[in-house]
Amino acid sequence: MTNAIRAFIFDLDGVITDTAEFHFLAWKQLADEEGIEFTREDNEQLRGVSRRESLRRMLKGRPIDESTAQLWMERKNDYYRKYLETITPRHTLPGVPQFLSEAKEAGILLGIGSASKNAHDVLARLQLLSVFDAIGDGYSVVNTKPAPDLFIWVAGRLNTPPNHAVVFEDAEAGIDAALAGGFYTVGIGSANVQRAHLVAGGLDALTVNQVLEHMR
Ligand code: BG6
Ligand code: MG
Repeated sequence: MTNAIRAFIFDLDGVITDTAEFHFLAWKQLADEEGIEFTREDNEQLRGVSRRESLRRMLKGRPIDESTAQLWMERKNDYYRKYLETITPRHTLPGVPQFLSEAKEAGILLGIGSASKNAHDVLARLQLLSVFDAIGDGYSVVNTKPAPDLFIWVAGRLNTPPNHAVVFEDAEAGIDAALAGGFYTVGIGSANVQRAHLVAGGLDALTVNQVLEHMR
């Protein structure tokens, strides 16, 4: 084996659980209140990017001052957090619990690399906090995806160099981040993740051995 894989690093939203709909509903509420057109298609452009960048994309060039931007992000987050209250351990995406326990049994370290400042709360609601050996979130680094910083930060906490780790991501910005950091990549879902080393509809379509074999 050229590179023994020692760690798996997972994006959260869209890989472990599907909060994209909640993000959409929260941005939509803000947009409606402010008279801005915002569709489900627009929401796809927000996948995987930070709250600040999401606001910029939602505004589509409309200028607002910094204090208004801060207030709008707070409002969106308040709406979003209401939806988070409905999350239970049953809200993991198909195949997630089995894939995580298979990986643990294989002795692989598990990390989270999420752009979200709500990642700890979401993981707590899913009752998955203790499953992960390292959790990187929207507070961990300054430069957000597609910069590689977050995944490199998590790999550091796992004491694993990027070329011995696999990143699982559902967003183009996340695959770009992982590739820039020198990680192996698995693209999850139907968004633009074709540049990943391996692509699958979800973790239910993969086994840990398949991933390890593919990254040999
Ligand atoms: C990512 C989501 O995980 O987190 C994005 O895919 C979201 O849609 C980003 O904008 C930031 O989330 P939060 O919870 O910090 O607003
Ligand atoms: Mg995601």
